[in-house]
Amino acid sequence: MSQEALSLLRALNWLPSTHPTLTAPLLDWLIEEDSMTRRFEQHCRQVTVRPMREGFINADELTDERALLPDDARFWLREIVLCGDDEPWLIGRTLVPESTLNGPEQMLQQLGTRPLGRYLFSSSTLSRDFIEPGSVGALWGRRSRLRLSGKPLLLTELFLPASPLYRDLA
Ligand code: PHB
Repeated sequence: MSQEALSLLRALNWLPSTHPTLTAPLLDWLIEEDSMTRRFEQHCRQVTVRPMREGFINADELTDERALLPDDARFWLREIVLCGDDEPWLIGRTLVPESTLNGPEQMLQQLGTRPLGRYLFSSSTLSRDFIEPGSVGALWGRRSRLRLSGKPLLLTELFLPASPLYRDLA
């Protein structure tokens, strides 16, 4: 299940925010500035993170992501399932260039079951370069390039069918 979802995440097609299929309720979810963990918490009792993969990968394992990140030799990869009351709601894939992993940002390698957003949004040095909506079949996703102390990372998220986003569209 999670492997299939990861393949879908990699197949997301990126759209401009002005694309006609992007309705207001949809954009309200996809362009959310705040932590998705917190947003999900408004729709369930408990949000949990199931880590799938955490570790270094080489630059040649990146997809079109490579064009959006510095030309480092290695990247820290984190792939997780975010669950609402134990139901999979979102797949998150974070790529952190090795050159970002100094100072407090080394913590990104020690997140485990702690949600990334809690770390990011508690940091006073967070900024966002862009956020881009995407779709694959009937599913929606997004990717954003964020910066901590000016150092980039790329976060791609796929909203799974059970996610409350789809209830708002129905
Ligand atoms: C993560 O912990 O890696 C994470 C959490 C929430 C998201 C995306 C990624 O929306």
